[in-house]
Amino acid sequence: TCEDSVVSSPHPDLHDSALLRAARGEAVPHTPVWYMRQAGRSLPEYLRVREGVAMLDACMDPGLVTEITLQPVRRYGVDAAIFFSDIVLPLKAVGVDLDIKPGVGPVVAQPVRTLEDVAAIPDLEAGHVPYITEAVRSLVGELGATPLIGFAGAPFTVASYLVEGGPSKEHAKTKAMMFGAPDVWDALMRKIAGIAAAYLQVQVRAGASAVQLFDSWAGALTPDDYRDQVMPHSARVLAAAGELGVPRIHFGVGTSNLLPLMAEAGADVVGVDWRTPLAAAVPQVGERSVQGNLDPTLVFAPTEVMTRRAGAIIEAGKAARGHIFNLGHGVIPSTDPDQLARLTEFVQSYPR
Ligand code: CP3
Repeated sequence: TCEDSVVSSPHPDLHDSALLRAARGEAVPHTPVWYMRQAGRSLPEYLRVREGVAMLDACMDPGLVTEITLQPVRRYGVDAAIFFSDIVLPLKAVGVDLDIKPGVGPVVAQPVRTLEDVAAIPDLEAGHVPYITEAVRSLVGELGATPLIGFAGAPFTVASYLVEGGPSKEHAKTKAMMFGAPDVWDALMRKIAGIAAAYLQVQVRAGASAVQLFDSWAGALTPDDYRDQVMPHSARVLAAAGELGVPRIHFGVGTSNLLPLMAEAGADVVGVDWRTPLAAAVPQVGERSVQGNLDPTLVFAPTEVMTRRAGAIIEAGKAARGHIFNLGHGVIPSTDPDQLARLTEFVQSYPR
């Protein structure tokens, strides 16, 4: 609607921030850096504000989301904020009975198995998530020239939680549906893609200036299965964000054999996990930027070991159209924030 598209005027320097320039493949004054899961469990100030507040309740509280999202920006001076939420939040918002259990992760009360189960999940409209619009607007005001990255879970990764009913290593029930019940699979993937697309558009209309699509578990798929059964749905989500003109980051774990397809799905930036050397990833993504990819455990190594590896990654990234520095997956909960502060300082002062 008209009202949704009203965005208070962006900070004059936002468009030329290092992150957005790198995402578009333009020259940058320094390599931009942010960290997946930078807002959250490794920060004492996060643990303090989350005390006694359930995860999903925190996600629906615009004041808390704003505070938690800003914490790593204040502490590290990273080049972007990532919206604090979870990939299952939009499902909760449309009424799927699910919870995030401490130490377990998302748990779905009635796993999806049939066409009727899929049909029972409503499509998402902006009216389902007023607290997201409010949190994004408040954040964009506070962040000024620092971009806010909105995000959504990709259809395959979200489907895994809906079909398995909770976290899974093998994604066996999910893949069994994909292989054995193609009509249910197609309906489910369309449903989730529609929800993810609408959810990203809500965040962008409220002022997010880039988005990341998390297909964390796509590495469980062969390239053929990914291309035929997953990629068209992810492509639809990425296209919905592209329509609104923001850069799209597309990330998965264990995706060394999927990188060209994840690029082709409609990414401006391809996120690379740490198992693939960045130099090997760059030629696979075509005329696109890359994001990554320091092993998150290197933050536990002596500082000089960590920074030597980070320097090699920045050098490898120079061959790409653009490079956004990140870890190869999320910040590990026991990470020492001071070590991430040193890493940030190292990356931002590394000569281009
Ligand atoms: O871990 C924390 O920072 C505490 C808050 C929390 C999040 N998710 C934040 C989050 C909690 C308790 C969850 C539950 C959850 N959701 C888990 C278990 C986490 C755990 O370690 O106990 C998992 C695996 C999920 C599902 C999920 N959420 C996936 C697969 C992803 C994609 C990113 C990834 O790690 O692969 C998310 C996104 C997510 N969860 C974000 C945050 C702040 C956003 C992305 C980011 O900050 O980089």
